[in-house]
Amino acid sequence: MKKILELITKEMEKAFQTAGYDEKYAGVTLSNRPDLCEYQCNGAMAAAKEYHKAPIMIADGVVEALAGSELFEEVQAVKPGFINLKISADFLSDYLNGMYGDSRLGYEKAGQPKTIMIDYGGPNVAKPLHVGHLRSAIIGESIKRILRFAGHKVIGDVHLGDWGLQMGLIMMELKSRKPDLLYFDEDYQGEYPEEAPFTIAELEEIYPTASAKSKEDADYKEAAMQATFELQQGRKGYQALLKHILNISVTDLKKNYANLNVEFDLWKGESDAQPYIPDMVQKMKDQGYAHMSDGALVVDIKEETDTKEVPPCMLLKSDGASLYTTTDLATIVERMKLYQPDEIIYVVDKRQEMHFVQVFRCARKCGLINEDTKLKFLGFGTMNGKDGKPFKTRDGGVMRLEYLLTDINEEMLKKIQESRPMSEEEAKEIAKVVGLSAVKYGDLSNQASKDYIFDVERFTSSEGNTGPYILYTIVRIKSILKKYEETGGCAEGFPITAYGNESEKALMLELTRFNSVMETACGELAPHKICAYIYDLANAFNKFYHETSILGTEDPAQRNSRIQLLVLTRRVLEACIDVLGFEAPERM
Ligand code: ARG
Repeated sequence: MKKILELITKEMEKAFQTAGYDEKYAGVTLSNRPDLCEYQCNGAMAAAKEYHKAPIMIADGVVEALAGSELFEEVQAVKPGFINLKISADFLSDYLNGMYGDSRLGYEKAGQPKTIMIDYGGPNVAKPLHVGHLRSAIIGESIKRILRFAGHKVIGDVHLGDWGLQMGLIMMELKSRKPDLLYFDEDYQGEYPEEAPFTIAELEEIYPTASAKSKEDADYKEAAMQATFELQQGRKGYQALLKHILNISVTDLKKNYANLNVEFDLWKGESDAQPYIPDMVQKMKDQGYAHMSDGALVVDIKEETDTKEVPPCMLLKSDGASLYTTTDLATIVERMKLYQPDEIIYVVDKRQEMHFVQVFRCARKCGLINEDTKLKFLGFGTMNGKDGKPFKTRDGGVMRLEYLLTDINEEMLKKIQESRPMSEEEAKEIAKVVGLSAVKYGDLSNQASKDYIFDVERFTSSEGNTGPYILYTIVRIKSILKKYEETGGCAEGFPITAYGNESEKALMLELTRFNSVMETACGELAPHKICAYIYDLANAFNKFYHETSILGTEDPAQRNSRIQLLVLTRRVLEACIDVLGFEAPERM
């Protein structure tokens, strides 16, 4: 369906032409005096210059040409030359019936679907997930769903951090504990066992221990660096250990992400890009892009217009080891080869922006991507505690994701149990669903690039701009609809008819914005615009609900129309929270 603003603009274009003026002046916006009218056109003021006439004369002419228009109930030229447009009740309800009859609620699919890869999540194997990974997962998942809903082919890749020093650290710590393991015997030629020589619990404890030791013991760290290097050079025993570590971690990560309602299409990691490195580097050398600088192999990527220093992109260190940059470049090579994306979007902490500037420039300069493939960095801000500082545990450590989710769930459970009597089991079930909305909405309702304060108390509140408030609204609608059904009502087949009061009209107008909001959120990769919309929509619904006895509406046609309006509101809200990545329970 065309957006309602487009339909209105079309009508105005016709009127401008009929009145003898260029249609380019017919632009319509939402009114800034909603008490007078819903839409307005200010084009007469601009046209006045071209036609050397008073704006009000032009506005009068256009208003005259609009006589008999079915879109408007009233049009008025106001000095100095505004045209106020009051939408017709029938046009409004027709539009909503159009949305109702469309499984996509009037949101058209993208004309030219693209293949888009999203690099998000980015957990580091064997290291615990922390709040930064939470943001990447939440935002990335929503972007994926928004793009998919728009009709694009979207591939989400978790891009595991499985190639860094943490791998060497784990191997060395394991070696010091179990030196007799086959994996450490350099002369061993046979097969390695299927079973991993450790559990996830051990693995989770091994890494922090090793990491702490390496900070105090330079030799230990040196050994870990050496092990990392040997792993990267393909030492067999280490490769086999890596497989075990990956298997165990991925199983655990999948469980964690499932709890967040986050799902990846690809479980690839940095290590998958390694086979592409030698060729890529060779080509960069052959084509004269890469050169030696202080023993390291680099590509210059400075541009004249740079206002701040952009250091060269380092490919190989003097010992021949590859870096984070190398891996990201080789991953681009791999992605181009396997998926030919039109676009790759990286949802990563904005503190990594310079890294991506380097990677993108280098990839373009060295021709790793097609000219029309876009690389986008969607950098997100830091999640802070109430003190405005990066989130920490009570003892000052990095906040682990699971603790944070436990905090939210506990608070949510308390609130749910206070709201009405129910079984422990039901309360827990609901707290989990609503708690997720609290976390996700709390995050997504901020513009991604901004820092925000993680406030358990506020996020779990059922009032205000929160996830639980949105869910309460949906649940309220569901319960009215259920009650109507239970008392023998059935609105099926009934159309939505003209509004009966102002708050009903306001709700209808909010509903018409759905396709336009989705389109903007998709174009700007901005889930926060969907949050802002559903907050407005939920407010409009609740106002209508408080001012109108819906089930008590006398006239059956109007009552059924209102029921259908509720159904549509529920569907729009559900479509929105679905792309945000959470869902509503049946009851709360
Ligand atoms: N593993 C990285 C981290 O924890 C994030 C990975 C982001 N994606 C990428 N292609 N570099 O910081």
